[in-house]
Amino acid sequence: MVEVTACAGGLDEQVSLDIYNAVWPHDAITMDEVRSFKASVRDHVDYLARIEGAAVGSAVGVIFPQRADRVFTILTVLAGQRRCGAGSALYQAICRWTAARGRRELEVAVLDNDAGSLAFAQRRGFTEERREVGLVLDLAGTAPYQGGPPAGVEIVTWAERPELARGMYEVALEALPDIPGSEADSVEPFGDWLAHDMHGSGDRPEATFVALAGPEVVGYAKFSLTAAQPTIARHDLTAVKRAWRGRGVARALKAAQINWALAHGYTELRTRNEQRNEPIRRLNAHFGYRPGTGRIYLVGPPAAAGATRRRSS
Ligand SMILES: CC(C)(COP(=O)(O)OP(=O)(O)OC[C@H]1O[C@@H](n2cnc3c(N)ncnc32)[C@H](O)[C@@H]1OP(=O)(O)O)[C@@H](O)C(=O)NCCC(=O)NCCS
Repeated sequence: MVEVTACAGGLDEQVSLDIYNAVWPHDAITMDEVRSFKASVRDHVDYLARIEGAAVGSAVGVIFPQRADRVFTILTVLAGQRRCGAGSALYQAICRWTAARGRRELEVAVLDNDAGSLAFAQRRGFTEERREVGLVLDLAGTAPYQGGPPAGVEIVTWAERPELARGMYEVALEALPDIPGSEADSVEPFGDWLAHDMHGSGDRPEATFVALAGPEVVGYAKFSLTAAQPTIARHDLTAVKRAWRGRGVARALKAAQINWALAHGYTELRTRNEQRNEPIRRLNAHFGYRPGTGRIYLVGPPAAAGATRRRSS
């Protein structure tokens, strides 16, 4: 018998996070990132599934301000506890939560090497919307980059020039809608973007690199770091203003990031690129990133309350 309850406090939330980290260790985070993430979204819920009192699965549902018309969810069930109904029970709870908020669309993420979980989603009517390929750069064999930025461009850190935030926001306004698959996302107003995208628990001004052409911010690149993976730095956004693309600005930003990671003892860089995002995929191939674990994003309607899925034979 599976029992699903919403997390009742910090202890439950930690159990939920422990399950997520056990199922997706390559994406492990700490409670700091969880709190920062929850503070950045419009609404959220965190469920635990228990069998005979033992927690076996968790599900987080969120409404992102950038995509407030749908609920995004990640369901995770411990590997040894699958096919006992926990995933289905969590899915039903998320569907009820979605319906209660008047949303008619659910988005789920599945790893691209996990055929079983993909089938779980597809059997519930979910279809692929977009895909991110995973990329990894092993820093062990990587030497610091010597080449400088293109003529007329200098690379500084945001820590050195905190007043550049507004210029970075102008870059984000142009770059975020240009990411394939994100066209329908909105960019938050400046203050919210600053709080959520730039001042999260994994954001470091000293590890955020800004490309300047005179006084104008023409690009920036940042990491999302976590104490849960202290030797792995994960790339967050790399963004260049439209008029400045194709001139080596992103290349200079990425070289600065790699040099920073080398100087600070990181052993690996990771990122995910939308598979249709040719420019960033070419750039990462140039720096020697190799395939890693990617994600498939699927969308579907939430199941009607109380509905059971019809089996076909
Ligand atoms: C996807 C995931 C959440 C499913 O969790 P789960 O606990 O195995 O889910 P369930 O047990 O409810 O359902 C899995 C299958 O087992 C079946 N099942 C349930 N109880 C069963 C039992 N006692 N005996 C045999 N099969 C059973 C279910 O009917 C279901 O089959 P179906 O998809 O044809 O309906 C889990 O595999 C997981 O954590 N994956 C990694 C994270 C991930 O990718 N999450 C996103 C998923 S959208």
